[in-house]
This record gives sequence, C-alpha cells and structure tokens, in this order.
Amino acid sequence: STGLMNPLRLLLLGAPGAGKGTQTARLLTKFPQLNSVSSGDLLRQQIQKKTPLGSLAASYIFEGKLLPDEVVTRLITTHLQEAGWLSPKATWLLDGFPRTLEQGKMLRTALSKYDTGLTLVVELDVPESVILERIENRYVHIPSGRVYNLQYKPPKVPGIDDITGEPLSKRSDDTAEVFKKRLDEYHRTVGPLKDFYAKRGLLKAVSGDTSDVITPKLFKLIDKYSSGH
Ligand code: AP5
Repeated sequence: STGLMNPLRLLLLGAPGAGKGTQTARLLTKFPQLNSVSSGDLLRQQIQKKTPLGSLAASYIFEGKLLPDEVVTRLITTHLQEAGWLSPKATWLLDGFPRTLEQGKMLRTALSKYDTGLTLVVELDVPESVILERIENRYVHIPSGRVYNLQYKPPKVPGIDDITGEPLSKRSDDTAEVFKKRLDEYHRTVGPLKDFYAKRGLLKAVSGDTSDVITPKLFKLIDKYSSGH
C-alpha cells in the first residue's frame, strides 16, 4: 500500500555510497506524505551559498571528516522546527543524521521535548566493492540533492539536471582518497549508534548488491511497520 497508518519517523543508516539518497527519492515517490531531510544536502547547499557554516562545512567535507556533533545537530533540529515536523503526528525521514552516538543522544533529547522521536531505523547494507564503483560515476544537483550516476542513472542531457536544467556538480569528497576516509569514519562511528537503536528495538537492516534489490525490501519493511507490525 502507499498509506502510512502509523506516523513513520525513519532514519536511514548506511556507508557513504550505500544508496541513502537514492532510496530516499524512491520512498518519497512511494509515500507521498513522507518528507525528508539530508544533512549532507543541507551542508552542500550552505557551501554553494557561501555562508559561514558553508565554509566551515567545506573544510571538514573536503577532508572526509565529520563536522562537530553540536553543529550538525543544530542544523537539523532547526530544520525540523522550521518545517513544522516537531510533533508526534509528523512523518519524516532523516538521511545522514544522526551518525554518531552523541548525535543520536542529542536528537533524542531534542525530540522528546515535543513528545516525539524516531520510530524506525534501517541500515542499508551494501558490499564495499559495489560502493567504490559507484562513486566515480556520481553527479549531484546541489539545490535539490538529486543524485545521478553516469552508468546507472544518467541525466537526460549530460551535465544538466533533468528537472531544473541547472548544472550538475561532482562532489569535492568523491575522490578515491577522500572516499576511503569517509568509509573509515563510517565504520569508526556507526557501531555505538547502532547499539543505541538496537537496545530500543528500533534497528532493522536490509542488504543487497543493488538499490533495485534493496528498494522492495525497504518498502515491505515500511508497509509492515506502518500498518501496525
Ligand atoms: P553525506 O552527504 O551524508 O554523504 P555520505 O553519508 O557519505 O553518503 P553519500 O551521499 O555518499 O551516499 P548515499 O548513501 O546517499 O548514496 P547515493 O544514493 O548517492 O555526507 C557528506 C559529508 O558531510 C560527510 O563526510 C561529513 O563531512 C558531512 N556530514 C554530513 N552529515 C553529517 C553528520 N550527521 N555529522 C557530521 N558530519 C556530517 O548513491 C551513491 C551512487 O550510487 C550514486 O551515484 C547513485 O546513482 C549510485 N547508485 C545507487 N543505486 C545504484 C544501483 N543500483 N546501481 C548502480 N549505481 C547505483
């Protein structure tokens, strides 16, 4: 079904390149009442607009390092507030945040003040060999966060976003060297965060070599959850 009977507040976890952005786009199409926010997209928009936060973010992102927990938490909670999503009835999806135990705790504290919280956490589990191949071919439309892939999902016109006609960019952190650091950061920080959610009974995982294998599994999981388990 495309309905969500129980409010879904979903966190997608997964290594860089696992397909969080790709799955998010598919979930928004399948569940029209769902909203999403990606910490990486928000940061890249700040960089493009040349704000002070953008210049801070650029220095971390370029090195494949995580920004300070407080900075990212403030960015996302402000977004949740401005979007009107701080309510027990709201339905939304987070991509890329929280990604450390500290961020997980801070988000939980912030949401509990509004009697709300995450209802489901899903880890996208994709083999590393598959991920590495994808990154070289990725292009993004920064204002929307739309993701393309030269092999798998090329834009209709090379270098141009299908919807707006604006130029696509190569991410500064999609080089082999920086990508390796991002993967290391992910593996260093995700364990304690997963434990935190597993203890609360929120954590599920879906695995597969391609997004096309993962998508139906993810839809099924959400249908099952949202119709009352
Ligand atoms: P962020 O933007 O969150 O990047 P990430 O986690 O590294 O994830 P990616 O965007 O690389 O991958 P994805 O899983 O969305 O994959 P996608 O769908 O694009 O973060 C970037 C940086 O910002 C961080 O390093 C950090 O510095 C900072 N930051 C962000 N959040 C932070 C936080 N909470 N705390 C601190 N710092 C933070 O897919 C990948 C590619 O594969 C695409 O080209 C896609 O088209 C392709 N693809 C997808 N499916 C398939 C398929 N089936 N077959 C072939 N190709 C496919």
